Amino acid sequence: MENQFAKDIIKGLKSRPKFLPSKYFYDKKGSEIFIEIMKMPEYYLTACEMEIFQKQSSKIIDAFKIEKGEKIEVIELGAGDGYKTIELLKELDKKHSFVYKPIDISIGALEQLEINVREKLPDLSIELIRGDFFQKLHELQQDNTKKIVLFLGSTLGNMEDEIATNFLVEIQKNLNKKDLLLIGLDLIKEERIVLPAYHDSQGITSSFNLNLLQRINRELHADFNLAKFQHEPEYSEKTGKAKSFLKSLEKQKIHFKDLDISIDFEKNERIFMEISRKYNDEILKNLLQKTTFQIKQKFLDSKQYFADYLLEVE
Ligand code: SAH
Ligand code: AVI
Repeated sequence: MENQFAKDIIKGLKSRPKFLPSKYFYDKKGSEIFIEIMKMPEYYLTACEMEIFQKQSSKIIDAFKIEKGEKIEVIELGAGDGYKTIELLKELDKKHSFVYKPIDISIGALEQLEINVREKLPDLSIELIRGDFFQKLHELQQDNTKKIVLFLGSTLGNMEDEIATNFLVEIQKNLNKKDLLLIGLDLIKEERIVLPAYHDSQGITSSFNLNLLQRINRELHADFNLAKFQHEPEYSEKTGKAKSFLKSLEKQKIHFKDLDISIDFEKNERIFMEISRKYNDEILKNLLQKTTFQIKQKFLDSKQYFADYLLEVE
């Protein structure tokens, strides 16, 4: 099997328990649904991080400690449509000149981001990078330009802790001393607040998950019947982990025509679709143990639901 998407999907569906990698949510339609998710009243993450940038951008930029005339590069991992980032970039643009390099796996997201940036910051120097940030990280310029890496929206939470640790090590290895990482993390809080963010009343999150089955049907000529799967999220305040599953409503067999493969589902068997981990200072410190990142500052929204941590390479 040549195609990486096909390999990853089949590997996940042949595993016990079954899983699918959530990075594949973001085809054109998936990126559009994610924009809808960000507007949902239940999805507090976006509103909270937006509030941080609207009210504290100036403080955040002061904490970057950029010297006068210093060359800087702002690299954003999983930039999405840049809706919140632009608030920060607008403020940075008032005082410094810089190049903005958003990396995203989704063409749809990058196209929307370019439209948004051009509208709000027409003169900004921007270089769109399409690809998996695990790979693109290694291609960053190895020079003395001060690098400020943005990893917002709690996207780190979509990685299991071990992968997150390794990813943070990789980021740090590609940076020089005094370079910065601004990382947005959703904080551990009660189930009554977290769970509805992944179980909204309009079923938007359900369609976000089911869209991956539709993508598989389209790209791998499979025959998933979306009506036979149900979105099932869960959250434990104790572990801080929210998880999403798609549950098979009956015993069924899925065919992958071109690949000549079929996958069996038992009634109520679930596909693990996504982890959305929530954090606190201690969890973050543990994840940073193998890196030389030091936590410099923490910026919270007024409800204290979400935090942007400023980390510096020592
Ligand atoms: N940072 C934005 C978007 C979050 S959605 C915000 O806070 O609103 C997550 C984004 O990460 C999506 O645009 C998705 O396409 C991108 N993404 C997910 N996994 C990725 C990967 N492995 N490499 C590059 N981009 C990825
Ligand atoms: C991008 N990421 C941080 C989102 C989250 O909250 O885990 C993805 C998402 N999945 C369902 N809703 C939003």
